[in-house]
Amino acid sequence: MTGRLKDKVAVVVGAGSIGPGWGNGKCTAVTFAREGAKVFCVDRKRAAAEETAGLIEKEGGTAMAFEADASRNGSVKSMVDACMAKWGRIDVLDNNVGIGSTGGPVELSEDDWQRVFDVNVKSFFLTAKHVLPIMEKQGAGAIVNVSSIASIRSPKGIAYVAYNASKGAVNSLTLAIASQYAEKGIRCNAILPGLMHTPMIDFLAEQYAKGEKDHNQAYDRMIAIRDRASPTGKMGTGWDTANAALFLASDEAAYVNGHLLVVDGGITVRA
Ligand SMILES: NC(=O)c1ccc[n+]([C@@H]2O[C@H](COP(=O)([O-])OP(=O)(O)OC[C@H]3O[C@@H](n4cnc5c(N)ncnc54)[C@H](O)[C@@H]3O)[C@@H](O)[C@H]2O)c1
Repeated sequence: MTGRLKDKVAVVVGAGSIGPGWGNGKCTAVTFAREGAKVFCVDRKRAAAEETAGLIEKEGGTAMAFEADASRNGSVKSMVDACMAKWGRIDVLDNNVGIGSTGGPVELSEDDWQRVFDVNVKSFFLTAKHVLPIMEKQGAGAIVNVSSIASIRSPKGIAYVAYNASKGAVNSLTLAIASQYAEKGIRCNAILPGLMHTPMIDFLAEQYAKGEKDHNQAYDRMIAIRDRASPTGKMGTGWDTANAALFLASDEAAYVNGHLLVVDGGITVRA
């Protein structure tokens, strides 16, 4: 490791994962710490935030766990206040929370549409709202928003209309912030991961396999379908998302602003 985030304070929102293994946020928090950042690990599940902070500390890094619901204004304000009280600055904001809900416009309920937008879009707006004034005072900062290739592609199959639309909104929010804050030394970029093998996918495969006659075979089938869909023959991992986040968060990306970085092994160039 080369200290690419040395002396920086990074807030990773959604720093846990929904099950055992390595999600995008957990990999990102650990990667930032390995590169020298102090990492404020935020998750709505305290245990998930603590697990990630514990992994960082075990490796000799610096971290603090914090429980917050990023879709609530008061909760986000407490999160930012707590990080400022602890370390006095915020150099990097990594917005990683995200949920999905299946269905097209006809099948999806209004409540589910709203829930997806609250978690996937409003949370990114709220964290930016509270962190930008701090970055502005510092005269520098980098925001990394985790979007998805679902923001630019809707392959035939299971419908995820709210997820697609919410990630499209994340892209637009990213570009708008990038434009508005460029002259203040603040950059805002997004990552569009493709099919990544994270605990979220294990959970979905588990759901799919539940009730099938041969559970293990059904589970493996779902994973194999996703692997085959990637031009590389394998899904990506949380580490691929983390390495892209590291570049965008670091000073090496000093002139990269308003970029939507696709990390998908080439799926979108084929489809
Ligand atoms: N896994 C993929 O294939 C894939 C592909 C494209 C984009 N993404 C995006 O990557 C991000 C992370 O995905 P993952 O697969 O690592 O998922 P994950 O569910 O394992 O991790 C997300 C974490 O965010 C937390 N979280 C959820 N809502 C929250 C809230 N309101 N406040 C605070 N914390 C909250 C969860 O508790 C969880 O620990 C999401 O934005 C997702 O849309 C994932």
